[in-house]
Amino acid sequence: MFNSKIIGLGKYLPENVVTNADLEKIMDTSDAWIQERTGIQERRHIVKGDGNSTSAMGVKAAKIAIERAGLEPRDIDFILFATLSPDYYFPGSGVLVQEALDIPNCPAMDIRMQCSGFVYAIATADQFIKTGMYKNVLVIGSEYHSGGLDMTTRGRNISVIFGDGAGAVVLTQTKDENKGILSSHLYSQGKYAEELSLIGPNTGRWVPEIMELNDPEDISYYPYMNGQFVFKNAVVRFAEVIQEGLEKTGWTADQINLLVPHQANLRIAQFVQKKFRLGNDQVYNNIQRYGNTTAASIPIALTEAWEEGKVKEGSKVVLAAFGSGFTWGSVMIQW
Ligand code: UT7
Repeated sequence: MFNSKIIGLGKYLPENVVTNADLEKIMDTSDAWIQERTGIQERRHIVKGDGNSTSAMGVKAAKIAIERAGLEPRDIDFILFATLSPDYYFPGSGVLVQEALDIPNCPAMDIRMQCSGFVYAIATADQFIKTGMYKNVLVIGSEYHSGGLDMTTRGRNISVIFGDGAGAVVLTQTKDENKGILSSHLYSQGKYAEELSLIGPNTGRWVPEIMELNDPEDISYYPYMNGQFVFKNAVVRFAEVIQEGLEKTGWTADQINLLVPHQANLRIAQFVQKKFRLGNDQVYNNIQRYGNTTAASIPIALTEAWEEGKVKEGSKVVLAAFGSGFTWGSVMIQW
């Protein structure tokens, strides 16, 4: 049996910055409301025609991660691509990365677990590496939200929150059983599938039917979120699944060098920080600058924290996420 460890990290954010003031011009919202409820000051949005797509951003982040790992794309044995906004309905975005990176016939799998996508993908990569099936696994989280949001007052409770971007890591095998991914903990609760969802079009109502009805009130092709319900569940599940990781590893909260929570809402991260009595230097947040980038938020934040020297040899790092599904999970990493 091997352990898996992260040896390269990269991120890509589109250049176009959209501030809260920019949103005030197109919908009934305010910088004060957005900052008070979410902590977000600005986010990045793709500009149509700038050449970016979910997979293209993922490729840019992946190239950096692979280079920092000291590898060539052809050294990658398996690609895992976490997203809720794939380039196409099908096939998934992973195969587009395989083609763009020119890794002949490398298997590629999409992970459709929304905000928990990156945590699920790391856990999946870890299992393939542990068994010895693959040595070097590329894990990408990438989202192109902005093109699919309702950017009017009607959609303001969601559209102010989400941003575009991508992050990537390369994992490889190590024989050191005290290093790398020590444990991962995954959950889902489909009972609440529709509380944070985009349900149309779907197999119960295909595109031709929607077009035929041409109902101006039909907004099923925009994301829906029961915000307060999601918030209440998030704070409970984040705490539970981090606690489970602490018990499994035997770590105490004060030993955590860095918690990198999914960047859903700064208030959620602050609640979790308080719950575990973590200091400001023990939790990494960048939602202020990028908004919620769903499956991309943890790899973007982890990369940034690593670039700033906050994650280094010997660090005890905790990743945790909660979101649509509902799904949630944590990963405990001894760097
Ligand atoms: O990443 C996946 C996981 N996602 C999450 O964890 C998100 C969890 N939920 C949240 O973060 C919060 O619920 C939100 C930030 C989305 C919303 O905050 P809230 O405190 O739950 O607000 P609310 O939806 O209860 O709305 C309060 C008021 C409403 O007005 P009335 O009915 O009180 O007059 C909304 O219409 O705020 C209004 N509102 C806004 N006002 C200005 C909603 N969105 C906006 C907006 N600007 N963008």
